[in-house]
Amino acid sequence: MRIDILTILPDLLISPFSDSIMKRAQTKGHLELEIHNIRDYSTNKHHKVDDAQYGGGAGMVMSIEPIALLIEKLKSERHYDEIIFMTPDGELLEQETSNSLSLYQNIIILCGHYKGIDERIREKYITKEISIGSYVLSGGELGAAVLVDSIVRLIPGVLNDETSALTDSFQDGLLSPPVYTRPPEYNGMKVPEVLLSGDFGKIEAWRELKAMERTKERRPDLLDGK
Ligand code: ADE
Repeated sequence: MRIDILTILPDLLISPFSDSIMKRAQTKGHLELEIHNIRDYSTNKHHKVDDAQYGGGAGMVMSIEPIALLIEKLKSERHYDEIIFMTPDGELLEQETSNSLSLYQNIIILCGHYKGIDERIREKYITKEISIGSYVLSGGELGAAVLVDSIVRLIPGVLNDETSALTDSFQDGLLSPPVYTRPPEYNGMKVPEVLLSGDFGKIEAWRELKAMERTKERRPDLLDGK
C-alpha cells in the first residue's frame, strides 16, 4: 500500500513512522510512505502557503494553489482510491474505517492547519474527511499518524502474529480482556488461576466473559443492537 501525506510540517511525521511496526512495514515493503511538504509547491517567492480569509475574521486559511498543484501532480502519476482530509469536523475514526482503508492500494492524506483550508480544495479533491476525536488539535499531522498506524497494522504480513490484529479491541465489537505475564504472583497480586490451567476451552470462555464485562462497564454503547 502507498500512502502520501501532504503537510506543512513534515518533521512532525518522521518519528511516528521510524520505529517498531511502522518501520518494519516499510522495510518489508508492505507500506510505501511519502511525506510531501506543501510549501515546496508554493509559487510565492516567500513560499507562503496561507492567507487571510475573505470576509474577515481571525486565523489564516491554507491557500488553494500549492495543495492543488501537489494533488494534481500525484494524481497524474497513479490512481488514488481515496483523498482524505484530517479535520475535526470529519467523520469520527472507527475501527471499521481503518479496516476498509487497509484494503486500498493508494491513498492521500491531507493535513490541515490554521483556520482550515480553502473550501474549494475540499469540494474538488477530497473524497473523505476524518476526525480522530471530538477535540481540536493544532494540525492534522498527529491525526494522520494515528490514522496511518491503525490502517497499516491491518495489512496482512505487517504483524508477526497474524492473529493479533484480529483479537484487537473493537475488531469483534468488544474491548479486549485483561492480559498477564510472568511472574504468577507479584506482591500478593495473583494471575487468575484459569490462565495457568492449560485448559484452552476454559481460557477462551474466561476471555470472552471478561471482554463482555469490560465492554459493558466501559463502553456499553458498543453493545447497542447486540
Ligand atoms: N485537525 C485538528 N483537529 C483534528 C482532529 N480532532 N482530528 C483530525 N484532524 C484534526
